[in-house]
Amino acid sequence: MKKRNLSTYHFRTYGCQMNELDTEIMVGILKQRGLEESSEEDADLLIFNTCSIRDLAERKVMGKLGQLGRRQKNQVIGVTGCMAMAKKSSLFRKFPHLDFVLGTNNISNLDAVLDEVLTTNTQVFRTEDRFEENLDYFIAHRKDPIKAHVSIIRGCDKFCTYCVVPYTRGQEVSRSPDSIVEECQKLVDAGYKEITLLGQNVNSYGKDQKEWNCLFHDLLYRLDKIPGLLRIRFMTSHPVDITKELMYAIRDLPSSCNLVHFPVQAGSSRILKKMHRIYTKEEYLEKVALLKEIVPNVALGTDIIVGFPTETREEFEETYKVFEDVGYDVAFLYTYSPRKGTPAMRWKDDVSPEEKDFRLKKLMDLYATIAAEKRSHMLGASVQVLLERENKDQKHLYGRTRCWKKVICEADPSQIGQEVSVKITGFHHQTLIGEVVS
Ligand code: 5AD
Ligand code: SF4
Repeated sequence: MKKRNLSTYHFRTYGCQMNELDTEIMVGILKQRGLEESSEEDADLLIFNTCSIRDLAERKVMGKLGQLGRRQKNQVIGVTGCMAMAKKSSLFRKFPHLDFVLGTNNISNLDAVLDEVLTTNTQVFRTEDRFEENLDYFIAHRKDPIKAHVSIIRGCDKFCTYCVVPYTRGQEVSRSPDSIVEECQKLVDAGYKEITLLGQNVNSYGKDQKEWNCLFHDLLYRLDKIPGLLRIRFMTSHPVDITKELMYAIRDLPSSCNLVHFPVQAGSSRILKKMHRIYTKEEYLEKVALLKEIVPNVALGTDIIVGFPTETREEFEETYKVFEDVGYDVAFLYTYSPRKGTPAMRWKDDVSPEEKDFRLKKLMDLYATIAAEKRSHMLGASVQVLLERENKDQKHLYGRTRCWKKVICEADPSQIGQEVSVKITGFHHQTLIGEVVS
């Protein structure tokens, strides 16, 4: 018999920032119920907010759930997030000690699901395919006092052939601009300085709600008007949807940071077609050139998958060349992992693990070389740094530039939350070291 009174919770969150934000919202729901955070061992309620994007992410959670079954505690255990959507009630067969499965589109039902678990002592699951705009975003319990994530669009309609997201998070549903502006205003009133707008594809924002007459760049213009909101970032984008209007907004709006996540995924047009990325290498590079022309100090980020089915060494070399030519500032590099239910599962995963690792390592080395070059070019330069907290060494304050570079500098802790001008004097590993000049 499981506990009937829940007074403590513990979350384990895997995967992307959207999952982190969903955890913050669920923590808000639990806090409203009177629960307090506790350790994984002691908590009455243990929730795994999971990710399905690659096999490794799923295996970690499956291993952990198996261990818990053997430990036989009377904790209430739930699985939320993408694995809940991918595996649904089949998780109960594998893990009989699991109490509930709550999908990405149902987190607002957490309270009701817990009541049902506690009163009926049965396994409960809610995994609807479509997100309903009934989520109380304002309830989110955030730990960081300076930077906040705000959800603007959920789901994805792009259906890249390797990706589970359109199945685990459903179709695109934009959140109303009024609700987003209201949340951002409240965050600024509470002292927040930087907001990252989240969505699987933020550039699709508003396209599903034509009557709002508010596309992504329009939203940026509205948010820029909030006094005291120093910085706006956004994650993540699909290159196809990045418009000229958006590029002008990034250039012109004082709050808009100049790091654009522009995931290429692969550098060969044949592989891009097979991935259903709906652009060729040439089209991608043309957009990069336009972006660099319109926003001269733009920094670019990417995601890349190596070893997609049938990718040859030569085609990988095209990816390498694109990386070199674009000179990304931020890169998330992955080896291809076949995902159940995706169209790419039809094709043999025919690039050997050794070859995938070789390609990954080669790209990682290039990324490190480019990053080191960029760091040395920054010596003597002045950058704007938002001071976020004391650094671990307790001698410096830590912050990030508008391009997301880590910086430490000597400054008074009373300056935390301010954006200051810093002259770069050196670096330690990936972190820039500087002196405050204003
Ligand atoms: N295998 C490897 N990487 C993947 N991604 C998405 N699906 C897969 C997969 N099946 C990567 C993409 C995406 C990022 C979030 O994860 O690069 O942009
Ligand atoms: Fe996945 Fe492609 Fe959608 Fe990104 S755009 S979430 S990679 S389907």
